[in-house]
Amino acid sequence: MNQLFRLPKPVLLARGPYQRCLAANFSAEAKPKPPTAIVLMNMGGPSTSKEVGFFLGNLFADGDLIPIPFQSVLAPWIARRRTPKIEEQYDQIGGGSPIRYWTERQGKLLESILDKQCPETAPHKSYVAFRYAPPLTQETLEAMKQDGVERAVALTMYPQYSCSTTGSSLNELHKTMDRLGMKDAFSWSIIDRWPTQPQLIETFAQHIERSLAEYSSEERKDVVLLFSAHSLPMSVVNRGDPYPQEVAATVQAVMERLGFSNPYRLIWQSQVGPSAWLGPKTNEVIEGYAKQGKKNLLVVPIAFVSDHIETLFEVDIEYVHLAKENGVNLKRVESLNDDPVFIDGLAKLVKDHLSTGTKVSTQLGLRCPQCTNPKCAHTREYFGKE
Ligand code: FES
Repeated sequence: MNQLFRLPKPVLLARGPYQRCLAANFSAEAKPKPPTAIVLMNMGGPSTSKEVGFFLGNLFADGDLIPIPFQSVLAPWIARRRTPKIEEQYDQIGGGSPIRYWTERQGKLLESILDKQCPETAPHKSYVAFRYAPPLTQETLEAMKQDGVERAVALTMYPQYSCSTTGSSLNELHKTMDRLGMKDAFSWSIIDRWPTQPQLIETFAQHIERSLAEYSSEERKDVVLLFSAHSLPMSVVNRGDPYPQEVAATVQAVMERLGFSNPYRLIWQSQVGPSAWLGPKTNEVIEGYAKQGKKNLLVVPIAFVSDHIETLFEVDIEYVHLAKENGVNLKRVESLNDDPVFIDGLAKLVKDHLSTGTKVSTQLGLRCPQCTNPKCAHTREYFGKE
């Protein structure tokens, strides 16, 4: 396995018009080249309201995301209790999450750009591996095997790394391969974070500018930009998770690109349960700024790359309603979804990754200082080995 990293030097250093895509899938003789797999990892979401119970069951069972005492007993119980309420929320956004649609579309657009720009590694085939909803990791790995994949890139669709999100997906990938006896089936490399990828920043900036253009010229400069990201339990933050710092890096880069045109804050949404979570909470921020007399708040979902429940329900319905009650006008910038600038950025990210021959980032090798999860060690050992 890992033939990429055993390539003779002359091959890795070869010059030519497409040398930047050289970390290739090599097949012998004339048989068709196996595809280079680009595996888009995310948490996923229920495509229909009926899938909510299954989704929540998987979500609450994930100790990497929400560590709960007696998890195997409590997780199904919590999931069952929460299902009816969450089903209603999905009903209000059209009966399901669009995250599968958007992730599959992002993957398809990505593979067609890569096929044009990186013929050495072509054909490229995108796969989706969701953590809590179909297509789950097992299904994806089996499809890859069926397609004859040898070389695979695990691409996180969370630009900012957290052990609760990307870390959980990687642990699941490793664990599932182990269970299926597939640890030698593919040669992997990982794109585990990209918080300041230039086109990611550019797309966010353009979407903000587009939204700001909808205000009158008198109002525009006073619009408060609220960069809202999914929160983390403080137990995870204090364990040393890099997510808050990486989200802040994205915000900083976007504001620099905008020339600090507007006042702004980084705020955190979607806290659940009684334990302490990272704040300030988005709902409290809305109430606080209403009291201070702010008139226009513009929410920027800074840690999501497509629409799902946190944008379509939580922001567009719950927070808009809360703002109205408090006499504030709240709007949201459009999600990245299939914006061509964003998709070009994704392609560049993968292309650059393939060209460097990087297996994992330096940062992935460093576990959280208070990590006691043996899965994190096993995952790093597996993906990091030459
Ligand atoms: Fe962060 Fe294990 S929890 S590396």
